Amino acid sequence: MTMDVVKGRRDVHRLVAAWKAQGLRVGFVPTMGALHEGHLALIDTARAACDRVVASIFVNPLQFGPNEDFTRYPRPVERDTALLAARGCDALFLPDVAEMYPTDADTVVSQRLATEHLCGAWRPGHFTGVLTVVLKLLMQVAPHDIFLGRKDFQQVVVLTRMVRDLDLDLDIRVHACPTVRESDGLAMSSRNAYLGPAERAAAPTLKRALDAVSAAFAAGVRTTAELESAGVSIVERAGVFKIQYLSVVDAATCVPRAVTGTAPEATDVVAVAAMLGATRLIDNVDLSAR
Ligand code: PAF
Repeated sequence: MTMDVVKGRRDVHRLVAAWKAQGLRVGFVPTMGALHEGHLALIDTARAACDRVVASIFVNPLQFGPNEDFTRYPRPVERDTALLAARGCDALFLPDVAEMYPTDADTVVSQRLATEHLCGAWRPGHFTGVLTVVLKLLMQVAPHDIFLGRKDFQQVVVLTRMVRDLDLDLDIRVHACPTVRESDGLAMSSRNAYLGPAERAAAPTLKRALDAVSAAFAAGVRTTAELESAGVSIVERAGVFKIQYLSVVDAATCVPRAVTGTAPEATDVVAVAAMLGATRLIDNVDLSAR
C-alpha cells in the first residue's frame, strides 16, 4: 500500500475520520523527523497494535529556546518519507509552520509540577512548546493511540499527564515505548548526528553512569546523594561532559528525590542531561533496572 502524504490539518483529520468510520483503529507517532531506528520501532509497535498508522514530521519552533538548534536541526524529509513508507506507515502528516501556527495564534498549553525540574528547568518554555504542539496534533489527527519513546522520559510524563488532565484519555491511549540503543548503549537520538568521532566515542558514558546508579540501588544504596554520586563520578571522570542534571526522580512527577527529601523508591527513574561539546544529550533508566 502506498503512503499518503498530507500537509493540511483538515486533510489529515478527514483521512483518519474515514478510517475510523470503517471501524479501523488508528495509531499516531509524532516526530520532528531525522528519523532513526528508535522512531521506526515506534512505527512497528503502532502497526502491531493498530489497523492504520499516521506519523507526523514537524520541527516545532515553539519548543526550541532562542540559543538552541532549531535552525540547524536536520530536515532530511525525502529520506524520512522513504523510511516511513518502507516501514509500512499508512500516512505522513507534514504540516508547515503556517499551517500549525497561523500568524495570530495566541493560545498555549502549560503544565506545572512535572515541568518544573530536569529539562523543564534547563530549557525554559520547552514543555509549553511540546504540550501545545502535541495537543494540536492530537486534535488534528484524532488517533486512538499515541506512541512515544521513553528516551524522552520527562516528555512522556508531561504528555501523559496532559492527556489525563484535559480528558483526552476518554478517546486516546498513551503508549510509552522502550528506548532503542546503539550496540554500545548510546540512546538513539536525532542529535547524535551532531557528534564528532571523539564525542561519539565518549557518548555511551552516560548510559554507563545510569547503569552504575541502578547497580548501586540493587546493591542496597538508599540515599539519593550516594546513588547520584555513583553516576556523576563516572561522567566527570570522562572529562568531556558538562552535566546539567543527574537525578533520581519520582517517575510519576519527575520531581527529584533531592528536592522532596524523600527516600528513593524502586519505581523511580534516574535521568541525566549533559552537554558534550555543543550537543545536548539526555538519557534515563529505571532505578531498579539492574
Ligand atoms: O519528541 C519529539 O520529537 C517532539 O518533542 C514531539 C513529541 C514530536 C513534539 O514536537
